[in-house]
Amino acid sequence: MAGPQSFKLAGVIGWPVAQSRSPVLHGHWLSQYGIRGAYLPLPVKPDALPDAIRGLRALGFSGCNVTIPHKLGVLKLVDRVDPVAARIGAVNTVVVQDDGTLSGFNTDAYGFLASLRDVTPDFKAGSGPAVVLGAGGAARAIVVSLLDDGATEVRLTNRTLERAQELAGIDPSRVKVVPWESRSDALSGAALLVNTTSQGMVGYPPLDIALDALPTSAMVSDIVYNPLETPLLAAARKRGNITVDGLGMLLHQAVPAFEAFYGVRPKVSADLRRAVEATL
Ligand code: ATR
Repeated sequence: MAGPQSFKLAGVIGWPVAQSRSPVLHGHWLSQYGIRGAYLPLPVKPDALPDAIRGLRALGFSGCNVTIPHKLGVLKLVDRVDPVAARIGAVNTVVVQDDGTLSGFNTDAYGFLASLRDVTPDFKAGSGPAVVLGAGGAARAIVVSLLDDGATEVRLTNRTLERAQELAGIDPSRVKVVPWESRSDALSGAALLVNTTSQGMVGYPPLDIALDALPTSAMVSDIVYNPLETPLLAAARKRGNITVDGLGMLLHQAVPAFEAFYGVRPKVSADLRRAVEATL
């Protein structure tokens, strides 16, 4: 990384990248903490990814975030992959080390747990069964976060059974696949329900699930952040469950990345939340 007095550069590599909220987030913190630096949207086509990643060092970047569709591709382009990122199978943060080598991290697992602890500070994944809906990239990070936090039972269900089975392979003794048709029954006795599917997002139908079997003591989290209150969260709130919206994960996953790029551990504040909410 560059010296403490220098102008620090970072950005987000994606294709397209205009939808990324990362420049708003990091830009907010750069001005809040008075850091001399910039955080740029970096549109990089898939075939240009190797050149772009290699170019970070030459351009004097501290590092970059990586978003769709590059989170898998960048795994093979860094010199070392953090164990959490390796288990998730995706990198969302690349850090240029002092010796010029590149390290790949995944901060989504951290961001998810931090978003739950914003709402319930003493949350422990080991406190009861978790139900995870969906088996895409976000689900992988969330399942890893729950396992690493001590979960003893993760009930995983996905429309396409094979994708859930593949993800469960990460720890078959603790991750149990439930057929999609049985998703409502799987809520019985759960302490946490997480939606990682696109259902409930603006322009998509609501998630089709009956919450009757879910204890009212369970937390309900949705990684969808547009709208902030999805139909799932609205239904859960009405029956008394504690709910966690998807903006928290988005904000918290940026914390370790910002610290690695700029040397300051930033706070997720109400001001930051408002700044990002204004862009939704
Ligand atoms: P991400 O990497 O953001 O998690 P993804 O890999 O596209 O995105 O995964 C989207 C998730 O939403 C998947 O679990 C997908 O289920 P499939 O594996 O069967 O595709 C789920 N999903 C998408 N549309 C859905 C629908 N109509 N009903 C239920 N699940 C749906």
